[in-house]
Amino acid sequence: MAKAFLFDVDGVLTDSADISKELVKRYFLLLGKTVGEEDIIPNLGMGMNALFINTAERVGVKIDLEEALSFFRENYALILKEKKEIPGASAFVMDARKKGVLTAVVSSAPLWRVEENLASISLSPSDFDLVLTERDVKRNKPYPDIYTKAMVELGVDKKDAVVFEDSISGIKSGKESGATVVALTTTLGREKAKSCGADATLDSFLLFPRYSSSSDLPSALRELSGSGRKAIRYGANWIESLERKANNEEVMKEAVDKAFSAMEHAYSPYSNFKVGAAVLSSGSGRIYSGCNVENASYGATICAERNAITTAITNEGAIGIDLLVVASGCNPPAMPCAMCLQFMSEFIRPETPIVLVNTMGVVENYKFSDLLPHPFDYEAL
Ligand code: THU
Repeated sequence: MAKAFLFDVDGVLTDSADISKELVKRYFLLLGKTVGEEDIIPNLGMGMNALFINTAERVGVKIDLEEALSFFRENYALILKEKKEIPGASAFVMDARKKGVLTAVVSSAPLWRVEENLASISLSPSDFDLVLTERDVKRNKPYPDIYTKAMVELGVDKKDAVVFEDSISGIKSGKESGATVVALTTTLGREKAKSCGADATLDSFLLFPRYSSSSDLPSALRELSGSGRKAIRYGANWIESLERKANNEEVMKEAVDKAFSAMEHAYSPYSNFKVGAAVLSSGSGRIYSGCNVENASYGATICAERNAITTAITNEGAIGIDLLVVASGCNPPAMPCAMCLQFMSEFIRPETPIVLVNTMGVVENYKFSDLLPHPFDYEAL
């Protein structure tokens, strides 16, 4: 099932939420009335009509809505020039598309304002799979209608939709639609956003947990909300680690036994050098083993370590390695070769223990970063 990011714009992609506050204040000042933040904030995120009407009601002033909206539009561009992008916003949107996540703008502002905001951060409506604005629904935020409509039009289920919001009414709207809501802390701050029901908060898009495809998003979101098991990054994978750890004696014994058994299965008629390896999968706690398999075309030979790792991936999909044991018959025990180290760098962490054992009972302990401190990283690509 496709996954989607649904972005509000003001206060989420551009730091323009306070333009509304600023212009409302100025408009009421023209009418001779000073309005405070507390009169405006509850009315943000519901569209321009509600912003003016509700504020006017709150401070007890009669307004001409058409005049107020014209004032807003005429002065908007001027103030927008001084405003900036929420850090990382446009890159986050473009990157999400590359990773196969659908993207939508879901704003209760008018289309002209959305277009101007996007242009100010070098984006345009065509950079999104869908753009919905105030004219697309009868009931604006805090009703869930606009988010529900976005999910229907994109063909995504609510459990696969992540809403990025900043205002009280926006968070409410997103939550009511059943999506997961990440609140940018620009408008409300962390605590207030949480108390309005946001599932997670985000100070800037630069802090969104890394993910490599839409299938990593549930873990990335759990990481963001700090709930459940903590997802840890192994190369390009986010894995929720089990408690079963390499320093547990039983786990170590099982891994060593499996590495030695695998070694017995080595196919090494050319070198007569037998190697066995075992890896502990962090997500499942299972241990997979492999032996070296040689070939008359020598370069086609596969080492025990890569054999164990590909077996783990075949069984589980994305894996993280919490322990590697390599068994051999030589003294000192055989080191993993450089090719295997580079290969495993995608699935392992610098601190992961690597234990080398041999048939004479010698045991050597390393951590991955001792053997390959500077792997060629997937992030370089
Ligand atoms: N070998 C491994 O299985 N793992 C290593 O990390 C080093 C080398 C195997 C490959 C080949 O079958 C034999 O050892 C001799 O190079």
